Amino acid sequence: VAAAKRPSVIWLHFQECTGCTESLLRTDHPTLVKLIFDVISLDYHETLMAAAGHQAEKSRKDAMAANKGKYILVVEGAIPVKDNGIYCKIGGHKAVDLVRECAADAAAVIAIGSCASWGGMPSTGPNPSGASSVAEILGKTVPNIPGCPPNPYNFLATVVHFLTFGSLPAVDKLGRPLFAYGRLIHENCERRAHFDAGRFAMEFGDVGHRKGYCLYKLGCKGPETYANCPAIGFGDVGENNWPVGCGHPCIGCTEKGVGFTKPIHSVA
Ligand code: SF4
Ligand code: SF4
Ligand code: F3S
Repeated sequence: VAAAKRPSVIWLHFQECTGCTESLLRTDHPTLVKLIFDVISLDYHETLMAAAGHQAEKSRKDAMAANKGKYILVVEGAIPVKDNGIYCKIGGHKAVDLVRECAADAAAVIAIGSCASWGGMPSTGPNPSGASSVAEILGKTVPNIPGCPPNPYNFLATVVHFLTFGSLPAVDKLGRPLFAYGRLIHENCERRAHFDAGRFAMEFGDVGHRKGYCLYKLGCKGPETYANCPAIGFGDVGENNWPVGCGHPCIGCTEKGVGFTKPIHSVA
């Protein structure tokens, strides 16, 4: 029996740090190896592909032609638009042109990471390159998987949803899938009982911090950040595998315009 054809995925990198890809590399169920050999056909990904230069460009073009209307386009990184978009080029093509070209015949477009979702780090004021989101460039809503880096399972679940149901999952007003970004960090945080009881770490390394008390007074943005970090963690390494679990306040990396570009809330 012939195996079903694995769906083609084209993954573009623009203004970014590759942290989103690094996050994906650390998945364990499935492993990246299983993902790209058994589940999808990762036909273009600058970090992971063996091809380079003209050969890489050919891979992208071939995959787009062979899977017209069927491939999934993933974009990692913001897209600069200032000065006619000259601040990011791949293979001689401007990022803004590449994303439009590749999105035109894609079955679905997914923005991974806060950079692709709304500019993220590259758009930090004064945003000298005009770093913009995928949705802004395409002029339509796309599923955003924000986070810096995002949780890879939120991305994989979005892809699997599309492959299973032929549609993308329901999203909130910021384009974030509700299954992953529908609840506040604060609702599921393991330190919530300390918050409710008024037990707070007041500075890093103090007794309260060492005892695992609530980090609100160190600036934790969990009460205003929608994400499932405390529920699923990162990296499959057991306990303490998310920022608050490690003793660091949530900086709100899944929220638009917070984390890097706005100060933490004031605390009493
Ligand atoms: Fe890097 Fe964060 Fe941008 Fe991902 S969202 S590419 S981790 S800066
Ligand atoms: Fe809420 Fe942050 Fe305290 Fe957890 S550490 S209970 S998310 S304020
Ligand atoms: Fe980001 Fe806060 Fe989760 S900083 S990784 S949303 S705990």
